[in-house]
Amino acid sequence: MNKKILSMLTIILALASSGRCSNVYSRKDFPKGFSFGAGASAYQWEGAVDEDGRKPSVWDTFVHSRNQDNGDITSDGYHKYKEDVQLMVETGLDAYRFSISWSRLIPNGRGPVNPKGLQFYKNFIDLLVSNGIQPHVTLYHYDHPQDLEDEYGGWLNRRSIEDFTAYADVCFREFGNHVKFWTTINEANIYTLGSYNDGLLPPGHCSSRSRCSSGNSSTEPYIVGHNLLLAHASASRLYKQKYKDIQGGSVGFSVFTIGFAPTSSKNDEIAVQRAKAFYFGWMLGPLTYGDYPDEMKRIVGSRLPLFTEEESALVKGSSDFLGVIHYLATSVTSVTHVESQREPNFYTDMGISMKFIGNYTSFDYAIVPWAMEAVLEYIKESYGNPPVYILENGTPMKQNLQDTPRIEFLHAYIGAVLKSIRKGSDTRGYFVWSFMDLYELLSGYEYSFGLYYVNFSDPRRKRTPKLSAHWYSAFLKDNTTFLGSQVTAQLQSRFSSSY
Ligand SMILES: *[C@@H]1O[C@H](CO)[C@@H](O)[C@H](O)[C@H]1NC(C)=O
Ligand SMILES: *[C@@H]1O[C@H](CO)[C@@H](O)[C@H](O)[C@H]1NC(C)=O
Ligand SMILES: *[C@@H]1O[C@H](CO)[C@@H](O)[C@H](O)[C@H]1NC(C)=O
Ligand SMILES: *[C@@H]1O[C@H](CO)[C@@H](O)[C@H](O)[C@H]1NC(C)=O
Repeated sequence: MNKKILSMLTIILALASSGRCSNVYSRKDFPKGFSFGAGASAYQWEGAVDEDGRKPSVWDTFVHSRNQDNGDITSDGYHKYKEDVQLMVETGLDAYRFSISWSRLIPNGRGPVNPKGLQFYKNFIDLLVSNGIQPHVTLYHYDHPQDLEDEYGGWLNRRSIEDFTAYADVCFREFGNHVKFWTTINEANIYTLGSYNDGLLPPGHCSSRSRCSSGNSSTEPYIVGHNLLLAHASASRLYKQKYKDIQGGSVGFSVFTIGFAPTSSKNDEIAVQRAKAFYFGWMLGPLTYGDYPDEMKRIVGSRLPLFTEEESALVKGSSDFLGVIHYLATSVTSVTHVESQREPNFYTDMGISMKFIGNYTSFDYAIVPWAMEAVLEYIKESYGNPPVYILENGTPMKQNLQDTPRIEFLHAYIGAVLKSIRKGSDTRGYFVWSFMDLYELLSGYEYSFGLYYVNFSDPRRKRTPKLSAHWYSAFLKDNTTFLGSQVTAQLQSRFSSSY
């Protein structure tokens, strides 16, 4: 038996033994117009960090100052975008999600547009559209222009709202004839926590002076969260006033979502409600109802900024769709925080401890599709069933062409999305993270999420489809299901002919 057939059988057996065979579905089961895609972000995919006029973002500075893996070259998308669009076409993607590098387009963060940066994105977007692939563009994916960080402290300062809006204006004006889906801020909640509560991500702020040279985890996460909401709302209003009638697109916001399960006691169930209020309600409360959840206001008190009436009206209803980033589930235990013992931070305010289901330290994500269903159900029930795009879902592994566990993961989660739609969720699209192996923000090059393998030792950064790329492609082309010997044979021939 040859190796390819063996690996196919492994998939069939893995799916059978995991009991998910009852979960048979095909692409045809999804509503008409549902988009399937995959994605990446600028710093993680482009490379070419100091070419053609791009200036550093906080990521460049942060990883270089710590001598960490970096995105200097990464997948070299800046030079290889034509080849990559071809791969997207071959895979059968309806849509592609990527972000624009603010400091490539406007190197100082404010002021003159960089003509070469502009041309790059125009070329890329034109090529996607002419190949029938719908671009979903994120304006801000963690990569603040370093100049603005240095000048006034980035998102901690309200001046960033104006600068972000001006940057968005350039993007809408220059790319909006082709781009119909704009996400302003990528997973604003976890970004804020990682950068201003935990100090793990640039600019690396937290209260602990052993880990962070500056920051305040009691106050800064709430200030930054507030400014992000206002910046989003300001860009969204601009779009409605100036572009929407002509361009007909929509502007959304995105959040990182976790499936929360109570550990055991009644208190833990109450803690799950609190976790949802903090984790989702922090952003979705203002976007849907114009204010933070009551419980959050009570607990955080004066550290939580207030919306003026005008701001509240601006933020409320400013998101045409919700971008959902989903990977993880945790069990939640209630923790009573003793006020006097420790300076509060976001997590002590939330009053829970979370234990990841799976092994987070070894990047071993559990396959728990209930978590996706729970998230979509909660969004439907608590926030007026907004249109949802799953902007990221996937699983990390050591680079490996035979990524059968990834296929199991994706199959289970796409099935969960379908179930949620059948229960009334207005989910309209699904994007695998990531289209290819990239520089990963938390794990560098050690673990990757790609459907395509990228050889990072090869100066040409050769791409090779993993098994998951073949699987996703077969799913998208409706060329297969995972049941029945006929299908098995079909898959086998597909796989053996492709390697
Ligand atoms: C954080 O801010 C609070 C409120 O202003 C202050 O009491 C606390 O000392 C600050 N903590 C740090 C680490 O600066
Ligand atoms: C998680 O993975 C790490 C690294 O492989 C290992 O040391 C640890 O024991 C694992 N934890 C659990 C709970 O399995
Ligand atoms: C990656 O590229 C290097 C350099 O070209 C080559 O030696 C190596 O065999 C490649 N690895 C794989 C897995 O293709
Ligand atoms: C479906 O898969 C088979 C087997 O790999 C292949 O021969 C055929 O061309 C595929 N059909 C489409 C529409 O891609």
